[in-house]
Amino acid sequence: MGIEWGSHLATGVDWQDSHHRELFKRINRLLDAMAAGYGKEEVARLFNFLDEYFAVHFEAEGQAMERHNYPGAATHAAEHARFIESITRLRKEFDNGPSLKLVISVEREVVDWLLNHVAGMDKKLGNFVKSATGREGAPLKSHP
Ligand SMILES: [Fe+2]
Ligand SMILES: [Fe+2]
Repeated sequence: MGIEWGSHLATGVDWQDSHHRELFKRINRLLDAMAAGYGKEEVARLFNFLDEYFAVHFEAEGQAMERHNYPGAATHAAEHARFIESITRLRKEFDNGPSLKLVISVEREVVDWLLNHVAGMDKKLGNFVKSATGREGAPLKSHP
């Protein structure tokens, strides 16, 4: 159970890859806590911990898309927004208490979504950022 990082998921943009790894860690912590039957408070804390990082990460990708005039920005941002909606729905479900059904939903919706998104849209974005800036994804102005 859980989500595993692999080099096939690397976009090659350092900040993006380190964000994704952190997201994977936080998802695994949440899944472990739910599977181990941790209390509602602890699971809620880990849900928040995950949510916060998704917000940070989506903001960073949004800024990169804007900075580089990424042509796929609207579609990419719409996928992020759809995902936030599904997290919100899972949170509401969780208000009724942790359950096996919820663990399965998180596995299916959060894990599947992230794997597909990273392997698809994020890699495309990563390639675009790399071609615009070089490997680290630094802004153009630092690469005169
Ligand atoms: Fe991402
Ligand atoms: Fe993304």
